[in-house]
Amino acid sequence: MLFRNRFLLLLALAALLAFLSLSIQFFHLIPVPATKNGASSKSRKRILPDPATEPPVTDPIYEALLYCNIPSVAERNMEGHAPHHFKLISVHVLIRHGDRYPLYAIPKTKRPEIDCTLVANRKPYHPKLEAFISHMSKGSGASFESPLNSLPRHPNHPVCEMGELTQTGVVQHLQNGQLLRDIYIKKHKLLPNDWFADQLYLETTGKSRTLQSGLALLYGFLPDFDWKKIYFRHQPSALFCSGNCYCPLRNQYLEKEQRRQYLLRLQNSQLERTYEEMARIVDIPNKQLRAANPIDSLLCYFCHNISFPCTRSGCIDMGHFKVIKMHQIEDEKERREKKLYLGYSLLGAHPILNQTVSRMQRAAKGREDEIFTLYSAHDVTLSPVLSALGLSEARFPRFAARLIFELWQDREKPSEHSVRVLYNGVDVTFHTSFCQDHHRRSPKPMCPLENLVRFVKRDMFVALDGTSSSYYDACHREGI
Ligand SMILES: *[C@@H]1O[C@H](CO)[C@@H](O)[C@H](O)[C@H]1NC(C)=O
Ligand SMILES: *[C@@H]1O[C@H](CO)[C@@H](O)[C@H](O)[C@H]1NC(C)=O
Repeated sequence: MLFRNRFLLLLALAALLAFLSLSIQFFHLIPVPATKNGASSKSRKRILPDPATEPPVTDPIYEALLYCNIPSVAERNMEGHAPHHFKLISVHVLIRHGDRYPLYAIPKTKRPEIDCTLVANRKPYHPKLEAFISHMSKGSGASFESPLNSLPRHPNHPVCEMGELTQTGVVQHLQNGQLLRDIYIKKHKLLPNDWFADQLYLETTGKSRTLQSGLALLYGFLPDFDWKKIYFRHQPSALFCSGNCYCPLRNQYLEKEQRRQYLLRLQNSQLERTYEEMARIVDIPNKQLRAANPIDSLLCYFCHNISFPCTRSGCIDMGHFKVIKMHQIEDEKERREKKLYLGYSLLGAHPILNQTVSRMQRAAKGREDEIFTLYSAHDVTLSPVLSALGLSEARFPRFAARLIFELWQDREKPSEHSVRVLYNGVDVTFHTSFCQDHHRRSPKPMCPLENLVRFVKRDMFVALDGTSSSYYDACHREGI
């Protein structure tokens, strides 16, 4: 118990340091706090919450900084922590791509000037960046399922294309890979030196940013890997559901959820005024501005420390940014409460969880293939998985977010297998809905594999409607 408390204290300190160093770096972007309005300075002093397991604080700038995930900040990582008599059997990693250029431009403004070529002596640095570029040039199309073979293997445009991975994004995943290498390869010997192709299972959506993120993580994990042993599969669906995507009820939940979002937005008159003001500055109709999803662009300016755009009529500023970001936080809060998104998530996340559980079960039976799995994906992939697992307090997936499932064998009872779940390096095993109760009964720091299996094969549907016992039944039930 003492150890646990001390550990929590360390976590809190790490979070505090991370926040302080971020705030200092970005000081010029943060308006001098209005001291009359003591709220913001008070929130700084408060002990910071754990960003993986506690809901967003009402500080939109802090939330935005976490979202950027700027490299160089000391990271917490609890991956691979287990008592000595446990042996690591397999690891399953689901990532969001790293920092990217916006997907939309704000009409009539200058796009943020970011160079997407990789340059070793430009920030953010990574000691492996040059070697990574050189290794990528040696790859061949044979390592990729079509149409991945037609994508560039690292970002390369002097003026970033829409949605392109940036150097920051590459560095974030080189770091993720290196961190996982230190724990899983060096410490736990998950793969032997002469690992073989079938021991990896690699899958990515068809965007260059996900493929390149996957390659950067893999390079950090297995530096100078043999290209002949690599095969990236293409996943056409952002839900990673190929073969099992047809699920009418999931779509109904999504429509209701979108309606909820729309209604909440209408209630927020401050948000409405902010959009109107921005539309006036940019000189386009309000509707057109909204359609360009300006927060996506603004986050890019913010994360890259570039001033928000100006026109002759004025500038978009931190005030606008804060209002929109704050609305996102409120939206996430209502999303948790109304549970429509949970319904969508339980159905949407089933196929990828089912796939993962099947691999774990095979590994538990002693099969040695597919013991390291990497799915390179999007926020719209991770978000439903987090929600389905019951990690409702987890933040909206930041750039280069990582969700990891570890499978362990108890050497003292070799037939028993246990699972740990980690989100961005934080152990969230006992925050999941399938292991919350277990925690209270057991002194073991892990969750039995059977709990996860039971959840994915049955309980997640029961949680949905109380009666369905399979994915097919749940997807085809009469409307909600
Ligand atoms: C952000 O930009 C300002 C000026 O534009 C600069 O002084 C500051 O050092 C920059 N911060 C970082 C972290 O690059
Ligand atoms: C779940 O996994 C099993 C075993 O791999 C597979 O046969 C089944 O089709 C999967 N079901 C869904 C809905 O993904």
